[in-house]
Amino acid sequence: MAGNLRRALAERFDEELKFFKNWIDMPQAVGAIVPTSSITARKMASVVNPASDLPVLELGPGTGVITKAILQAGIKPQNLWSIEYSADFVEHLREHYPAVNIIHGDAFDLNKTLGDKADQRFDSVISAVPLLSFPVPQRIAYVEALLDRLPVGRPVVQITYSPRSPVPAHKGNYVVEHLDLVLRNIPPAQLWIYRRPLAS
Ligand SMILES: C[S@@+](CC[C@H](N)C(=O)[O-])C[C@H]1O[C@@H](n2cnc3c(N)ncnc32)[C@H](O)[C@@H]1O
Repeated sequence: MAGNLRRALAERFDEELKFFKNWIDMPQAVGAIVPTSSITARKMASVVNPASDLPVLELGPGTGVITKAILQAGIKPQNLWSIEYSADFVEHLREHYPAVNIIHGDAFDLNKTLGDKADQRFDSVISAVPLLSFPVPQRIAYVEALLDRLPVGRPVVQITYSPRSPVPAHKGNYVVEHLDLVLRNIPPAQLWIYRRPLAS
């Protein structure tokens, strides 16, 4: 038991160190100095629908905290596609989640990153890409490109640290919803949802 606890703590420390090293190398792309908390990850993953025939798309998985929560929410590893920009994180994710489709590439260029699966549709998107590092028009284009790959009404969930939605409302064909503020996260996390509006 003590051995298991020691191993779990050592693994957690390794992940936090890896995260911090990546932040030193690429502060804009990593966007935070410690990984997302498991509470935040579970909240983000709560929107997925394991009964859907469609896979889930995860963007910016980093060390895999949210990846783990998506799997725990009932998504089979082969039905999870996770796109990560950092080669270091990709290596770590492939080692820890060998059955998940880990793709090394840019979440802003999905056609290229998804390659021959560019037409794949998804149930929902869970994004931890630090959108505040990018200009607003690029954030809007990002959400629009993601919603093009989802059934109408299904969510793109985005984590950010700003109290305002990183993708402003009324700038495209989407509605914005505040999912939650999670204080047990460093820094406190704001979770936002974007969906195509249902026809009235
Ligand atoms: C704030 S971190 C979140 C990581 C993860 N939630 C965790 O706790 O380990 C942002 C992640 O997005 C990745 N990222 C940044 N820009 C990206 C892009 N254009 N495409 C894919 N991933 C990207 C970073 O490498 C980093 O892993």
